Amino acid sequence: MNEPLYVTIMKRMFFIPLMLLATLMVAMACGKDETLPDEQEQSTSGGEDGNESEEGGDVDGTNGRYVILYCSRTGNTAQMAQTIQSALDCDMIEVVPAIPYDEDYNAMLDRAQSEIADIAQGDFPAVTTEMENFDEYDIIFIGYPIWYGHMATPMQSFLHNHAELLAGKRIALFASSGSSGISASEREAASLVPEASFEESLLLTSSSLGSVETRIPSWLEGLGANREEGGGDDTPVSGNSIRLTLENGTAFTATLADNSSAEALKNLLAEGGLTIEMSDYGNMEKVGPIGQSLPRNDEHITTSAGDLILYQGSNLVIYYAPNTYTFTRLGRIDNVEEDELRTALGEGNVTVTLSLNNNE
Ligand SMILES: Cc1cc2nc3c(=O)[nH]c(=O)nc-3n(C[C@H](O)[C@H](O)[C@H](O)COP(=O)(O)O)c2cc1C
Repeated sequence: MNEPLYVTIMKRMFFIPLMLLATLMVAMACGKDETLPDEQEQSTSGGEDGNESEEGGDVDGTNGRYVILYCSRTGNTAQMAQTIQSALDCDMIEVVPAIPYDEDYNAMLDRAQSEIADIAQGDFPAVTTEMENFDEYDIIFIGYPIWYGHMATPMQSFLHNHAELLAGKRIALFASSGSSGISASEREAASLVPEASFEESLLLTSSSLGSVETRIPSWLEGLGANREEGGGDDTPVSGNSIRLTLENGTAFTATLADNSSAEALKNLLAEGGLTIEMSDYGNMEKVGPIGQSLPRNDEHITTSAGDLILYQGSNLVIYYAPNTYTFTRLGRIDNVEEDELRTALGEGNVTVTLSLNNNE
């Protein structure tokens, strides 16, 4: 990217009308576009027709805990997807528009703008990629380029089409851009799939894409995602499994989070079982006092059914429906659906005993 030009354009952006600004943003954002329009852009996987699905394509991995869905026109997001795929050895699926984008760069830009306008009216462009079931996956990685500040339209369509199936799932967004931020597209994702739980996102711009090999692993580490096949929905991470037994005898296993709060809870349980009287709150959670304070690792979280949360340092919360708040993740009940958990916990108060799951 030619930095002086970029800076100049950035300055101009504050003084030009909105339509012109959008056009300039593309010129600015596609740093590579300034000198390498369209098919000449460098890409590890990009094809020559501006739609690199043949090479970017789908990959079957052996680690069934994760799946990567991505769209990419010139290969930058595909490069991020492939780096994640190599790190996790998981499935990777390209989201493909039903009608390929035009090879002519300006025509492509026009179409992208008109698709964004259509989406604002509730009309989503068709994509050919469909999935029937996300249940087996612990985290769903969703990758896309930023187009005019938005999530690229094929991925918006995919999320729109699969919103119900993605409800309650953990989603990690990743995106590439010339220089724009990811937050507007994060809001779009949250609005398209309101009942999903969103992890920390990753954006690489044209100036940071070169560090993809270091940025992706540290991001994955922060998410707790790794190549180990255990520790997902079926097999809790070794030594991090606990058991929750309800007063009616129903038992669940749960996998503790990787933080000092969960570690403190585990140490507490190692001293003996912990029984907590929990009450219902807000038709979304059971909450009760642990009896002592645990270290807090508060973060902004949107919960989904099965999340175990530390509230204000000394209360355990079991979520059976979504809520967004700043609190600490303690872990997650394994393989539980909202209806199943809601029914098991019942409507009012419930007594829950926590213990280490020594069977695992
Ligand atoms: C239609 C279109 C709109 C774009 N809008 C922006 C933008 O608003 N901000 C930005 O930083 N980059 C923008 N870009 C640049 C892309 O986000 C960037 O080049 C990205 O890395 C492309 O990813 P891909 O190679 O996976 O397609 C735009 C590119 C296109 C094609």
